Amino acid sequence: MQKGYGQYCPIAKWAEIFAERWTPLIIRNLHVGAHTFGEIAAGCPRISTTLLVQRLQGLERAGVIERRPNGGGRGSLYYLTPAGQELVDVALQLGNWGARWLELAPEDYDPFVVLWAWKMHVSLERLPQARIVIGFDLRDRPRLHELWDEVIASQQWSEGNMTRRFEAAWSAWNGLGAVVFSGWAGAALAALEFAGVSGETVLVPSNTFMATPLAVLHAGGRVAFVDCNREDLCMSFADFERAVHEHRPRAAMLVHIGGHIAFDSDRIAELCRAEGIFLIEDCAHAHGAGWARDGGATRRPGTWGDAGVWSFYATKTISAGEGGMLVSRHDDLLEFARAFRNYGKPDYVQTGLNFRLSEFTAALGLVQVERMEEIVAWKNAVARERLDPRYDARLRLPDGMVSGLYKYIVFEPVERSTGKVYDQPCHRILGHPDHLPNTDWVASGHWCVPLYYRPAPVTP
Ligand SMILES: Cc1ncc(COP(=O)(O)O)c(C=O)c1O
Repeated sequence: MQKGYGQYCPIAKWAEIFAERWTPLIIRNLHVGAHTFGEIAAGCPRISTTLLVQRLQGLERAGVIERRPNGGGRGSLYYLTPAGQELVDVALQLGNWGARWLELAPEDYDPFVVLWAWKMHVSLERLPQARIVIGFDLRDRPRLHELWDEVIASQQWSEGNMTRRFEAAWSAWNGLGAVVFSGWAGAALAALEFAGVSGETVLVPSNTFMATPLAVLHAGGRVAFVDCNREDLCMSFADFERAVHEHRPRAAMLVHIGGHIAFDSDRIAELCRAEGIFLIEDCAHAHGAGWARDGGATRRPGTWGDAGVWSFYATKTISAGEGGMLVSRHDDLLEFARAFRNYGKPDYVQTGLNFRLSEFTAALGLVQVERMEEIVAWKNAVARERLDPRYDARLRLPDGMVSGLYKYIVFEPVERSTGKVYDQPCHRILGHPDHLPNTDWVASGHWCVPLYYRPAPVTP
C-alpha cells in the first residue's frame, strides 16, 4: 500500500487503496467466488506470491477484505467485507469504461484468464449431472471397439458371451454369483418376486431414491418406511428393529447411500436371519466399496443380504449408460433371476418380462469393471488429499471401510454443492404420515462436494 501524500480528498484516499496494480483484480476475483489464496492467485496469473500476500494484507488493514479460518483446511479464506462489496461496483464500472474506451492489442488477450473467468462463472450445480459424471476413460476406447467387433462377429447381440463375461467380472469383484439385467429395476423385481412380497410388508428406508419403494409397490408389496442414522444416511438399526416388531415384514431393502456401506449392515442382516426376513441390498451407489475388519478379507456390498441389486445407470461411479446386476449366494435365486429377465423362459413356470441387456452394453460394462479399481482409487486419493483437509464436517467412515465415493458428503453448506443425495424423503413424496426425524434432518442437513473422475489424458 502506498504511503499517503497529504491529500484529504476522499478520491485521493480511495486511490491510495485501490489504484494499484492487481488490487482491482483481487477485488474482482473475490467477487466472482475465489476465496483461497490459490484461487485468487489463479485469477492474477503473473502476480508473485510475495506481492499477493502484501496486497491481501493491505486490503485487510483497509477493512476491504476479511480473513476467515478454512474449516479443517490449510491457509485462510478471504471474503469481501461490506465496504469491499461496495468497491465491486466501482471495479465493474472501471471494467465497463475500459471496454468502451480502451483498445486491446492481441498480446493483451490471455486465454488462461478467459478460461479462469469461465470456470469461475460456471455454476456447477446447474450443469446436467448425467453429462459430466460418466467416468469413461478414453484410454478404454480401443478395448471397447475391440469387444464390439467381437460382438458383431459373434452374430449374437443379446444374452451372449459378453453378458457372461460382464457377469463373471462382476462376480469376481463382488464375490457372489451375478446375473445381468437391463437396469436396476429388473434385478430388484426379480429379488422381490423371489422373496414373495406380494401382499406382504417390505421395510424400506425413506432416505433413498424413489426407485426403492416403487419397486416394492410394483411387486405388489406394502411399503413401511424406516428412519436413517445421521452419521451414515443409511437405515438405522434401532428404528429397523422397532419396525420389524411393528410390521412383521416379509422382506427388507437396505440401501447403501452415497457409496459407502451402511454402518448397521451387520446387525440388520443378523436380525433378518433370526426373523426370517428376506434382505435385499440396494447397492446402486456402492460400486467399489468394501469393508475389511480385523485384518480379514474385504467384504463387498450385496454380501450381507439374500440379494444385492446394482445399477449401471449413467450417473453411477461405474456406468454402462444403463444396466443392472443381481448378486446372490443362493443358486436358486440366480437361476430364477436368469429366467425372470427373459419372460420366464424356457418353461414359464415363473413370471418375468424382458430385462435383457444388449451385448454391446455388456461390453461397455465389462470395460468399466476392468477400470473400476483405478476409478475408485483416483476418487479416494482426491478425497483424502484435497477434500478432507477442507471439510472437517464430513461423513466419516468406520475403520477398514472404503467408499466408492459416489458422493462426497458433508454436513455443512458448501458453495458449489452438487445438491443433496436426496432432498425429499420418500415417505414425504408418497404422503406417508411417519415421523422419521433423522431422515428429515439428513434431507436438509447434508451437501455434496463435486468429485468426478477425471481420467488421465490420452497420449497419441
Ligand atoms: C438408491 C437407488 N436405487 C435404485 C436406483 C435405480 O437404478 P436405475 O436407474 O438403474 O433403475 C437408483 C438410481 O438410479 C438409486 O440411486
